[in-house]
Amino acid sequence: MNVADRQFKLRRSIEELGPWFQNLKLHGIETAPDHFLGDYPAFKWRGFQHVLPDDLEGRSVLDVGCNAGFYSIEMKRRNAGRVVGIDSNPKYLRQARFAADELGMTDIEFRQLSIYDVGQIGERYDLVIFMGVLYHLRHPLLALDLLSQHVVGDQMLFQCLQRGDERVPTLNENYDFSEWAIFDKPEFPKLFFIENSYSGDPSNWFIPNKAAVEAMLRSSGFRILDNPEREVFLCEKTGEPMAEHWL
Ligand SMILES: C[S@@+](CC[C@H](N)C(=O)[O-])C[C@H]1O[C@@H](n2cnc3c(N)ncnc32)[C@H](O)[C@@H]1O
Repeated sequence: MNVADRQFKLRRSIEELGPWFQNLKLHGIETAPDHFLGDYPAFKWRGFQHVLPDDLEGRSVLDVGCNAGFYSIEMKRRNAGRVVGIDSNPKYLRQARFAADELGMTDIEFRQLSIYDVGQIGERYDLVIFMGVLYHLRHPLLALDLLSQHVVGDQMLFQCLQRGDERVPTLNENYDFSEWAIFDKPEFPKLFFIENSYSGDPSNWFIPNKAAVEAMLRSSGFRILDNPEREVFLCEKTGEPMAEHWL
């Protein structure tokens, strides 16, 4: 098959597997060139990629909500060892398998699995990537607790849509039952609930402000190591979720 025929066949396969959310470049052909955020997620990745080592030296990676595999592929490019991508949507997993194969990364594993079932995985990963998923979940703190309890071995790269006040207040350990005013402060940790739709997407359920993101991460047993850009956090697992005390 000559180059033009190969390009034609590739374009047709990309089209058949679409629509794509992630814009991947497969032998010069883009999978989602008209993404509403631009060259997504490559342009985001360029802003925080420095927080991970250029050489992952064979470390294991779990990419949760991997979509078409952008981050799984980038981790392989950085010499990760075992890379596993999970997503609840088989349509995205077909895209991920296709893209990884096209790029010769046949050893990346993709599995259909909901985040709520990560307890079935039965192993921990040096790095868990959890980007752009939390606000799509009806049970966000449960998801963070499950990741902490079952799969994060060392670090987690995390991103969540954030809205509201960007300040992070210093809070008391406790407030009296009669305290009401604190809840009206814009910077108090808040998790906005979207009953219907945000940005035309009915799967956006809970959108935290910055203080709530940081508090939720801590509450699930993570310490924030870096916040290289708005909404992106590199964390390490340091303890157990607070839920341990209450369940
Ligand atoms: C906004 S996309 C983010 C994709 C990718 N992580 C990124 O940052 O570009 C959200 C992804 O989470 C997946 N997802 C949603 N709910 C999930 C769940 N309960 N378990 C696993 N994946 C889920 C969706 O199918 C989708 O691929």
